[in-house]
Amino acid sequence: EKGGYDHFMLKEIYEQPLAIKDTYRGRLLADEGIIKMAGIEDNMKRFLNADRIIIVACGTSWHAGLVAEYIFEDLARIPVEVEYASEFRYRNPVITEKDVVISISQSGETADTLAAIKLAKSKGAFVFGVCNVVGSSIARETDAGAYTHAGPEIGVASTKAFTTQITVLTLIALRLARAKGTMSSSDYRRHLHELELIPEKVTKALEADKHIQAVSQLYKDSHNMLYLGRGYNFPVALEGALKLKEISYIHAEGYPAAEMKHGPIALIDENMPVIIIATKKGHYEKVVSNIQEIKARKGKIIGIVTEGDVSVRELADHVIEVPETLENLSPLLTTIPLQLLSYHIAVMLGKNVDQPRNLAKSVTVE
Ligand code: F6R
Repeated sequence: EKGGYDHFMLKEIYEQPLAIKDTYRGRLLADEGIIKMAGIEDNMKRFLNADRIIIVACGTSWHAGLVAEYIFEDLARIPVEVEYASEFRYRNPVITEKDVVISISQSGETADTLAAIKLAKSKGAFVFGVCNVVGSSIARETDAGAYTHAGPEIGVASTKAFTTQITVLTLIALRLARAKGTMSSSDYRRHLHELELIPEKVTKALEADKHIQAVSQLYKDSHNMLYLGRGYNFPVALEGALKLKEISYIHAEGYPAAEMKHGPIALIDENMPVIIIATKKGHYEKVVSNIQEIKARKGKIIGIVTEGDVSVRELADHVIEVPETLENLSPLLTTIPLQLLSYHIAVMLGKNVDQPRNLAKSVTVE
């Protein structure tokens, strides 16, 4: 049932090229320049009239929501707020009939997310669901939605659900951008073609596995790790840190790289490994100067870089390469080495990777 893999988590990490393809199959017609999603077409007016989009989710799905915030604002010019469902539901939020709420949930059963949806609906908002489990409570409760089609995710730590959520949300953002005319047709087409290439680039990113395993061996006994990223890759840093915490029980924190100097830099010494996402597009020079600051304080640096990178390689203790892509699609690639790093560290520490202590696959209590 694990298809020859030692754990479901590893199987699911390796399933991502196919899972992403399944997510866009029938929806992304790159050559024709078309995105087809019934849930969006049927409700286009609601989306186009929305003053803002509010995204509600928990955990890894919340991180996918943060990536979506960058994509929606950047490409479709729609203001987005991303909320932890558990905070949103109890804070007497201002919601009107003009709001569109997007809820993201792999299981479709998360109690706080479900409650947030019910609250938003009661105030007249239009609620759209991005779920993986077909027929789940959240899928049924929402006004419309789009499934991720990632297939069953058994490992408690979410992997392919995250990348397929980002894929669906990217498709939605592109469809809305086209409808709103916020992207030029050449830029739009370029995005469609690049998105179509993501599965093979994920396959390419997975080829670093052996190297990542060797790096994992060097850092598995760390007590803390810091994950940094900027822009589109800030949420990826949060997700990388969450993944490590969940399955290896090593304390890790994710931060926007530029926030480092406002506090976390105090933690840096020779015992603090820093995983920093420094891909070519997106604040590259600024991230390189963050790397110099870490290096000056003797921090150990693991850089996640674009293939062929030179500058970070000179400074970092290790680099892990991912193929080049558009900046706003880069989370789909930079996430992969972070998943593998946590996986290998957890296995080396003898942890129960698929069923970490204290965690459940779907959190049906608040
Ligand atoms: C992380 C993880 C959790 C879930 C969270 C939301 O690996 O598994 O943080 O992402 O409990 O779950 P869903 O997406 O099912 O609503």
